[in-house]
Amino acid sequence: SSQTRKFPDGFLWGGAVAANQLEGAYQEDGKGLSTADVSPNGIMSPPDFSMTQFNLYHEGIDFYHKYKEDIALFAEMGFKAFRFSIAWTRIFPNGDDQEPNEKGLQFYDDMIDELRRYNIEPVVTISHYEMPVGLVKNYGGWKNRQVVHFYENFARTIFTRYKDKVRFWMTFNEINVLLHAPFTGGGLLFEDGQKNEQDIYQAAHHQFVASALAVKAGHEIIPVSQIGCMIASMITYPYSSRPDDMFAALTQDRKTLFFSDVQSRGYYPTYMSNYFLENNIDIKMENGDLELLQENTVDYIGFSYYMSFVASTAPEHEAARTAGNLFEGVKNPYLQASEWGWQIDPKGLRTVCNQLYDRYQKPLFIVENGLGAVDKVEVDGSINDDYRIEYLREHIKEMKNAIGDGVEIMGYTSWGPIDLVSASTAELKKRYGFIYVDRDSQGQGSNKRIKKKSFDWYKQIIATNGDDL
Ligand code: BG6
Repeated sequence: SSQTRKFPDGFLWGGAVAANQLEGAYQEDGKGLSTADVSPNGIMSPPDFSMTQFNLYHEGIDFYHKYKEDIALFAEMGFKAFRFSIAWTRIFPNGDDQEPNEKGLQFYDDMIDELRRYNIEPVVTISHYEMPVGLVKNYGGWKNRQVVHFYENFARTIFTRYKDKVRFWMTFNEINVLLHAPFTGGGLLFEDGQKNEQDIYQAAHHQFVASALAVKAGHEIIPVSQIGCMIASMITYPYSSRPDDMFAALTQDRKTLFFSDVQSRGYYPTYMSNYFLENNIDIKMENGDLELLQENTVDYIGFSYYMSFVASTAPEHEAARTAGNLFEGVKNPYLQASEWGWQIDPKGLRTVCNQLYDRYQKPLFIVENGLGAVDKVEVDGSINDDYRIEYLREHIKEMKNAIGDGVEIMGYTSWGPIDLVSASTAELKKRYGFIYVDRDSQGQGSNKRIKKKSFDWYKQIIATNGDDL
């Protein structure tokens, strides 16, 4: 009924960012190099360790120095929550350092205090697309078990430091990115350039163990904490009612759900064990791993949602492909796409919410959603991003419908409340913000912040707790 189609009190409205996409200051105050610092062309392209190419991430939008100004704008919009990541390399510059870098810890202390001054709840992603290059070069990334230990140490360090200030955490951003961008997701490099599933799934196992250790440590150090997983949701529709298409869609969805299955249910699903057998993938585990996974499942399901996907087994459909953040898919004839080819599907968000809630029966947290678009500053300085308002409004409506369906949703943090460097294509031309940043893909501009039309719109959504759609 419309009665239940209401956002609960305390719903966490806000925005989400990642350190590497906005902080800049990539070598300041002792920070080490991260995988983003050597990925000038974004997460889908090979790294450039020589660092000869121009890299937008290095300066970001200078949030490192401007965070007070930016947080004041988030507060003006009425944010209840702000999701950000802690750059691993600010705390452990090489990943395996004995002692944490005090200046890095202090930066997040100050930033979190600034949020709390406005009663904005900090929501921390422990690892978002930027492991230390040192762990790639000296250990081979996540295929090496030792990295589990370094991650756990990093997680314990930040839990201990921020225990009185941060309740909401998530262990790995879009953990399933490992399948699609193994360098960014797992620090994996392949000699012949061919992805090797053995390494990828071994790295996944290590991340599952690391995530479970973080859940364990977090619950010990911060009893009130809630620690979630975070997947890039990629719901797949069968192109037609052909049974083969249906099965292809199910199979494709399992590639994503495998990750949340392990993190939320606490065990390897049988469909994956079969997949490993058939593909000669042999996951090395240590004694106690399975118990650890079972005993330390996540408290909530965090996920990003930008688009839906289509699976078809008909060869002629292979031609009609469309872009996506992590992989291309078959075009859906019923949907429009963004300028970057991402298929816009608000109803899909309702379906995903129902799918995940049916499967896990745990609260959901929509920690990313938004429209990447080119914005134009008019001569009078205004930015009329009605297309963004439209996209967000339709998605928020469907989220509300999902609540009406009985799904428990904790919050909604739209992606990039302030324009930042994109992950898949490393550009600033593609913007998500309510706040415009005067900086272009060549790194030119004053870095001035300007409110877009969507700024006041989102402020009103929050002020009415989603009633005024
Ligand atoms: C998600 C990531 O995949 O999508 C973010 O968690 C990313 O880091 C976002 O920025 C949007 O993708 P893009 O490529 O448009 O920045």
